[in-house]
Amino acid sequence: MAKHIILLMSLVTLSFGLLAFAFEPSPLQDFCVADSTSSARVNGQPCKNPALVQASDFSFSGLHLPGNTSNPNGSKVTPVSVAQLPGLNTLGISMVRIDYAPWGINPPHTHPRATEILTVLEGSLQVGFVTSNPDNSLITKTLQKGDVFVFPVGLVHFQRNVGTGNAVAIAALSSQNPGVITIANAVFGSKPGISSDILAKAFQVDKSVVYQLQAKF
Ligand SMILES: *[C@@H]1O[C@H](CO)[C@@H](O)[C@H](O)[C@H]1NC(C)=O
Ligand SMILES: *[C@@H]1O[C@H](CO)[C@@H](O)[C@H](O)[C@H]1NC(C)=O
Repeated sequence: MAKHIILLMSLVTLSFGLLAFAFEPSPLQDFCVADSTSSARVNGQPCKNPALVQASDFSFSGLHLPGNTSNPNGSKVTPVSVAQLPGLNTLGISMVRIDYAPWGINPPHTHPRATEILTVLEGSLQVGFVTSNPDNSLITKTLQKGDVFVFPVGLVHFQRNVGTGNAVAIAALSSQNPGVITIANAVFGSKPGISSDILAKAFQVDKSVVYQLQAKF
């Protein structure tokens, strides 16, 4: 009986261990400020000598500045991830500011490594994400200033400014380096391009439609 309980407990412990490893591991020290000068290749970034760490390693300035939205999307993401703020290394967290011109969109995309929680600081945003196969349910809502919405890790999501003026959002992401896969760019803008036979069959359209889309990138 005792043996069975020990076995069961080991299995439970093991599964929690595996669950934890599906996300960024817990730090084993107070911090590990990214050392961008190191040539070492590790999962994340090597640690700067703790004796040389300064407050500036944990700080970023400029998130009060609007991003330039004069582009075809009509939006601009200003990231504060480990590349901009080295102190985020190993901490499993980062943030972005997103600016939207009227009717600007942050096009359908996914973060392979992060859940995102977003709040609207100014304006009004339609947001949404799509659940995975086979349902592909669209979960969508219009947010006003002060509203908060969460995009679960890995799911395709988007935002659109549906107000009359500019919109601004701040979002936190559960990775030091969430990654972005923009669907249109990945599917139609890869280099080299995915074969038009494959895309024509996948999207059930004529190859000319595929060429037209690929030519946009
Ligand atoms: C915004 O971006 C556009 C397009 O790249 C550029 O022409 C314009 O000068 C930029 N505006 C500012 C204020 O930087
Ligand atoms: C729109 O934004 C996405 C994500 O920032 C970017 O990958 C894409 O190139 C942009 N598309 C255009 C047409 O500017």
